Amino acid sequence: MIKLNGIEKMTNEQKYKYMLILLEGQLDSEKDDLANLSNATAIIKAIMDRVNWAGFYILRDNTLVLGMFQGLPACNRVEIDKGVCGAAVTTKKLKRIENVHEFPGHIACDAATNSEIVIPIIKDGVVYGVLDIDSPDIGRFTELEEKYLVQFVDKLNKYINWSKV
Ligand code: SME
Repeated sequence: MIKLNGIEKMTNEQKYKYMLILLEGQLDSEKDDLANLSNATAIIKAIMDRVNWAGFYILRDNTLVLGMFQGLPACNRVEIDKGVCGAAVTTKKLKRIENVHEFPGHIACDAATNSEIVIPIIKDGVVYGVLDIDSPDIGRFTELEEKYLVQFVDKLNKYINWSKV
C-alpha cells in the first residue's frame, strides 16, 4: 500500500525523491512488468500536481501504441513522424514543451493539456517507447521535473523487459 501522508508539506524536490523511492519499492516487490508499469503511472499521477495525463506509448512496428496510463482516454496510436512523442522517438531526445500549442504537429489528445514532457525510453541504444506527461499549466515542467523523470525512466530500464511489454 502506497502511503502519501505528508506529501503536501514537501517541496517539489522532496516529492520527486519520494516518487523514486515509491517506484523502487514497487519494482523490488513485484516482477510483473504489467503491474509495475501500471503502478509507475499511478505513482507519477499521485505525486506530481497539475498533471492531467501520465502514461506510456510503446513502439510496435514503428508506431507508438498506447500503454498503461492515468488520465482521460487518449489517442491509441501516434506515428513516429507526428507529435511530441514521435519527435522524442526520432530524435532520441527528451522533449520539454512549455506551450504545446506552439509545437508544430502537437497531437491534442486531451484539450486541457498546455504543456508536456516526453522522455524517450532507450535501453542499449534501442528506443522502446516514451513516457509522456501532460499538464494544464503552461511551463509546468522545469529542469527539476526533467532531472527526476529521467531518473524515473532509468530505474524502470533496470527492471522492465521492454521487448516483451
Ligand atoms: N500530445 C502527444 C500525444 C499523446 S497525448 O498527449 C496523451 C503528442 O503530441 O505526441
